[in-house]
Amino acid sequence: MTASRGKFSSRFGFIMAAAGSAVGLGNIWGFPTQAASNGGGAFLLVYLVLAFCLAYPALMAELIIGRHAHANAVEALRSVSRGPISRFSGGVTGIVGLIVASFILSFYAIVSGWMMAFCVSSILVLSGFETIAAWFVESSLPRNVFFMGLFMLITVVIISQGVKNGIEYWSRRLMPLLIVTLLLLVVYVLSLEGAGQGLELYLLPDFSRITSPSLIISALGSAFFSLSLGVGTMLIYGSYISDEENLPIVGGYVTLVDISVAVLAGFLIIPAMFVAQHNGIEIFTETGALISEDTLIFTVLPALFQSMGFTGVVVSLVFFFLMSIAAVTSSISMLEVPVAYAIENHQVSRNKAVWAIGGLITCVSTAILYDFETLFGLVVELTTRYSQPLLGFMMCIFAGWVWQRDNLLQELQKGNPSAEAGLFWAIWPWYTRIVCPLIIATIFYTSLAA
Ligand code: PFF
Repeated sequence: MTASRGKFSSRFGFIMAAAGSAVGLGNIWGFPTQAASNGGGAFLLVYLVLAFCLAYPALMAELIIGRHAHANAVEALRSVSRGPISRFSGGVTGIVGLIVASFILSFYAIVSGWMMAFCVSSILVLSGFETIAAWFVESSLPRNVFFMGLFMLITVVIISQGVKNGIEYWSRRLMPLLIVTLLLLVVYVLSLEGAGQGLELYLLPDFSRITSPSLIISALGSAFFSLSLGVGTMLIYGSYISDEENLPIVGGYVTLVDISVAVLAGFLIIPAMFVAQHNGIEIFTETGALISEDTLIFTVLPALFQSMGFTGVVVSLVFFFLMSIAAVTSSISMLEVPVAYAIENHQVSRNKAVWAIGGLITCVSTAILYDFETLFGLVVELTTRYSQPLLGFMMCIFAGWVWQRDNLLQELQKGNPSAEAGLFWAIWPWYTRIVCPLIIATIFYTSLAA
C-alpha cells in the first residue's frame, strides 16, 4: 500500500497544501463576521488563545498519527491502537470523520458556487454584458445548482490528479496568489473613508462578552473549522509528508499562516462594512446588531462595490476571485479524505473513487439546495459546531492515551533526532493527554447546558 501512495515533494509544497486546506471561507468570511458580531477584539483574543492553545496541539496530533501510519484516517487510527476496543473506536472515529468531511464539502460547495457566480458576474459587467450579469447575482435554484456543480467539477478534476500533481501543484500556485490579493485588498479598503470606525470595532475588545459561553463555543468551532481539524484532513495530509520533516515546526507554520490570514481578513471585511455605511448602505439590523453571514457577503459588500462605480466592479471581481481560490484549496482537502480511504481500503482506482464520491456529494448538495431552509443550517450546525470539536477530542485521546509514548517520540525523532530534549516534547504529550480533552469537553458541555 505504501509504495503506491502519493507524497508531497517538498516542505513548501506541504505547507502550501495544508495552509490551503486551513485557509478558506472560514478565515475570510466566517472569522471576520463572527468577530464583528461577537465583541470585535474580544472574539479575536479568545480566538487567538484557542487557536494556539487548543487547535495547534490537536493539529499536531493529526499530523503525527498520519505521518506515522502513512495511511488514511481509518487505517491510521486503527494502527496506533493496542487492543480490540481501541481498534474498533479508531475505525469508527475515522469513518465518522470521513462522513463529516463529505457533509462539510456538501455545504461548502454551495457557498463556493455563489462566490464563483459573483466572480463571473463581475467579469460579464466588465465585458459589457450587464443584463446577463444580473442573472448570476440573483439567487435561483438553476444558478445555485449550476455553480455548485461547476465548483465540484473543479474539485474532482484536481483531486483526480493525485497528491503531487493535483493538491500540491495547485496549492503552490494558488496560495501565494491568495495572500498577495488579500494584502492588496486590505491596503485598498483601509485607504477609504469610513474604514477607521471598522478598525476601532475590530481592535477594541468589548470585554463584557469575553466570558459568554456562546462566544467561546463559537470561537472554538471557528478555530477547529479554520484549521480543518477532526475530520481527518490534516491526518491524511500528514500521511503524505516525508519522514525527514520536523513536524512541530511545519505544523507551526501552517497554524501561523492560517491565523494570520484570518486576522488579515478581519482588516478587510470589518472596515469594508463601515466604508459601506459611509456610502449610505445599511449595515445594522433592526435589533441594532451588525449584519453578518450571507447578507453581509452577498448584499452589503456588493452594494458597497456598486456604490464605487467602475473601480467597484474591479474590486468585486478581485474579492470574489479571492474567495473562490480560498474555497478550492480547502475543498480539495475535504474530498481527499474519503477518496484516500476508498483507494487504500477498498482497492478502487483514484479516478473511480474521485468521480463516484464527488458525484455522491454533488447529489447531497443538490438535495440541500432543494430544501435549503431546512437542511443548510442543520448540516452546518451538526458538522462544524458539534462533530468537529468532538472528533478533535477523539484525535487527542488517540494521540495522548491510546498510542504508546515511546512510539510517539520515535515518530518525532525521525525529523528531529534531538526531539526528546526539546520544548515540544516537554509540553505537548501531557497537554494533549489531559488539558486539550478537558478544555474541549468543558466548553462543549457548557455550550450544551447554556
Ligand atoms: N478550513 C477551511 C476553512 O477555514 O474554510 C474549512 C475546512 C476545510 C473544514 C477542510 C474542514 C476540512 F476538512
